[in-house]
Amino acid sequence: MADFFTLGIETSCDETAVAVVANGTRILSNVISSQVATHAKFGGVVPEMAAREHGEAILPVYQMALAEANVKLKDIGLVAATYGPGLIGCLLVGLSFAKGLALATGLPFVGVNHIEGHIYANILERTEVKLPLVCLTVSGGHTDLLYLEKWGSYRILGRTRDDAAGEAFDKVARVLGLGYPGGPEVEKIAKGAVADLEFAKIKGLNDTYDFSFSGLKTAVINYLNRERQQGKEIDQARVAASFQRLAIEQLVGKLKKAVVDYGVATVLLSGGVAANSYLREKCLQLTNDLGITLYYPPVKLCTDNAAMIGSAGYFKYLSTGGDALCLTANPNLHL
Ligand SMILES: Nc1ncnc2c1ncn2[C@@H]1O[C@H](COP(=O)(O)OP(=O)(O)OP(=O)(O)O)[C@@H](O)[C@H]1O
Ligand SMILES: [Mg+2]
Repeated sequence: MADFFTLGIETSCDETAVAVVANGTRILSNVISSQVATHAKFGGVVPEMAAREHGEAILPVYQMALAEANVKLKDIGLVAATYGPGLIGCLLVGLSFAKGLALATGLPFVGVNHIEGHIYANILERTEVKLPLVCLTVSGGHTDLLYLEKWGSYRILGRTRDDAAGEAFDKVARVLGLGYPGGPEVEKIAKGAVADLEFAKIKGLNDTYDFSFSGLKTAVINYLNRERQQGKEIDQARVAASFQRLAIEQLVGKLKKAVVDYGVATVLLSGGVAANSYLREKCLQLTNDLGITLYYPPVKLCTDNAAMIGSAGYFKYLSTGGDALCLTANPNLHL
């Protein structure tokens, strides 16, 4: 059977990304234009600036994605774009571009949930992932523990009650004076450091699959303020390593509870924080101990990209068909 090519488009935050994916799993191109340099000096994404940059980048990124894949627009079978969650002005750029392409060519169009895209990053260049499974989605805006009996259908077991895991990494990096985005910086500086500070214990969530990171974040900030007021030198690596250990102990603890309670043989990690090697190592220890299988995407596919949107869009199209071109962006879209 001939290959079916999906054009994936992602502009929900600060990456303008377009990809061509064959049959929902094989990446022919995956072009990402990052705005990190624009936002780094502000320590976070400035929505208005991000939307404007998407507007400038989307056409050349689209042209590069087709050229790298060595396909023409006439070879594409489906246009898939993120329609939420994300920043409204940013979402509208990619979504409107996708709808314009679909309208002009008559191609089918699907809107993709960005978080669903992160999950599908696990099946890119892979076919063997078996259901049912538990998926830990840890990104800049989300921390969800999900049970999947079939693809495209999600039972939310737990989620964060306050900050997302990635948000806490970014905030701690900022108060430590590290660069942006903070997650990779915390990981880098924490490597090999003593992680003996205890900060705050989370309370009241023991019987649930829910997470909380704001107490830990505040405890780190309070610790730093106290030490600085007393004129003490801050051991940045020790603070970063201790924070990372506590955040990841919480993630892995809840993941273990879900995996054991639901008796699954497969675990997925998804989202930007899934790039963290300490999280991967701890999850691998867990799944090895339980004799089950862990999957996580390669680092480049953990953070925002359009190949994951092409994959999720293709499988959504196979199961429920295309969306109407009046579909609009939804910044608060849930799974
Ligand atoms: N190695 C790492 N260790 C810890 N955190 C990381 C690492 N790499 C990336 N992150 C974090 O991942 C987040 C970015 O991930 P992602 O691109 O999935 O988030 P987002 O798209 O902004 O949010 P969402 O997907 O929830 O809409 C940032 O918070 C970043 O600090
Ligand atoms: Mg994301």
